[in-house]
Amino acid sequence: MAANRRKGGTSRLAHGREAPPARGPPPLLPEDDSAAGRVYSIPVMQNPAVLFVCLGNICRSPLAEAAFRQAAAQAGLSVAVDSAGTGAWHVGNPPDPRARAQGKAQGIDMSAYRSRQVKRGDFTRFTHIFALDANNLADLERLRPSSATAHVGLLLDIVPGREGQSVADPYYGGPEDFAVTWREVSEAAEALVAMLKVSNWPAR
Ligand code: 4NP
Repeated sequence: MAANRRKGGTSRLAHGREAPPARGPPPLLPEDDSAAGRVYSIPVMQNPAVLFVCLGNICRSPLAEAAFRQAAAQAGLSVAVDSAGTGAWHVGNPPDPRARAQGKAQGIDMSAYRSRQVKRGDFTRFTHIFALDANNLADLERLRPSSATAHVGLLLDIVPGREGQSVADPYYGGPEDFAVTWREVSEAAEALVAMLKVSNWPAR
């Protein structure tokens, strides 16, 4: 089903979701951020600050944000965390209800999360930007300004045995696909926490 999104045009899907136009260069990198309050601590230079990026910022990257917030809190680590999308279709929206249900099942309330689009400032504001899939990574590499200081990489590259793999897009799937997403982002969250604990943060 995901291929539908990439064929071009806008179509109404069987389950009522409006597919956005085919992927292309994200149109904007707005500097105004209506969800600015979500980054609860802006590090002065090199305190770790992690941004998770997917396409819509309503499924995978909010789940990655939630999983990492939970894992970091359980480990007693203080880290700035946020998520964003390369596309603008869902800006201002809360996470997909299926993502929120997955969070709730893990004891996490994601109802205050709001989708936002990646912006230029993210490349210096965050120390590490993790793309959920290879397309997101390619978009980020293209958008990256020359002034960027953040490490930009693929999320599953930090999970032993999953290097080079993408977190599958559950948007056109069912609850079971969101459960798979949760497992994948949780593994990555645990790997990130382990790296932070031993000060072995991935090199830029
Ligand atoms: P996400 O999932 O990138 O994980 O948030 C998607 C959200 C929306 C769409 C596709 C994937 N969409 O086609 O609107």
